[in-house]
Amino acid sequence: MLKLAVIIPAAGSGTRMGSRLPKPFIKLGNVPILAHTLSSFLEIPDVVQVIVATSKEWFDEVENIYSSLNAQGVQFAVVEGGSERQFSINNAFSALSEEIELVAVHDAVRPFIKKELIIKCAEEASRVGAAMIGVPAKDTIKKIDENQVVESTPDRRFLWQAQTPQIFKREILEKAYASAIKDGFLGTDDASVVERIGQKVKLVEGDRENLKITYPVDLKIAELILNEEELF
Ligand code: C5P
Repeated sequence: MLKLAVIIPAAGSGTRMGSRLPKPFIKLGNVPILAHTLSSFLEIPDVVQVIVATSKEWFDEVENIYSSLNAQGVQFAVVEGGSERQFSINNAFSALSEEIELVAVHDAVRPFIKKELIIKCAEEASRVGAAMIGVPAKDTIKKIDENQVVESTPDRRFLWQAQTPQIFKREILEKAYASAIKDGFLGTDDASVVERIGQKVKLVEGDRENLKITYPVDLKIAELILNEEELF
C-alpha cells in the first residue's frame, strides 16, 4: 500500500451534544473518544503520519492523549482547526510530510472504525484515486423546501450515508481543496470536494457501528458497543 497520512478533524464545538467539552474529549469508557479513534489508525502499518486539527486550548490534551498510545515510529502533528470542518482539514495540509502519497480524513468522533475497513478503503483509493466508507440509507430521505414542505422523495435504493474514512491520493485532495477554496465551495464531507473536480469516488460498504457521536443518544449507543466489545 502507498504511504498513508491520517488527518483527524477534532475542532468541533459540541453544540449538538449540549456539552461543555468538545466531543472528541468526552470520555468513552475510561479514555477520551479521540484516543479510541487514534488507536484504530495506529494499528495499520502503512500509517506513517497522524495530524490532528483542534483549537489551541486543546493542543496539550491532544499531545497527552497521543503520548498515551502505542505510536512508535509514526510522525505526529497538531494543527489549529478552523471555523468549518473543511478549513480544519485544509490547515492540516501544511503539516503533511513530503513522502505521503495517500491521505485519509477521519472524524475524531467515529471511534469504532474497523482496521479491515480502513485497509479496504485505502486499497480502493490507491486504485481509483478516491474512496470512502458508507452504508445504505435505512430511512427514507425527504428533500424539503425552506418551509419544511416535502419537495420530493429520492429513490432510497440509490441513497447511501457517507461515513469516514474518506481516502484520496494526495495530489487529488490538495487540488480539490485548492479549487474549493478559490470558488468558496463548502462541502459537508471531503468526497463532495473532490467530486466537484470530476474525480470518481468509490464507495466501500462499511458497518453501522462506525457511528458519528453527535447527539447524546449516540454516546449511549457508543457505551453499549464498547461494553459489548470488552465482553469478547
Ligand atoms: O460537525 P461535524 O459533525 O460534521 O464534525 C465532524 C468532525 O469534524 C468532528 O470530529 C469535529 O470535531 C470536526 N470539526 C472540525 N472543525 C470544525 C467543525 C468540526 O475539525 N470547524
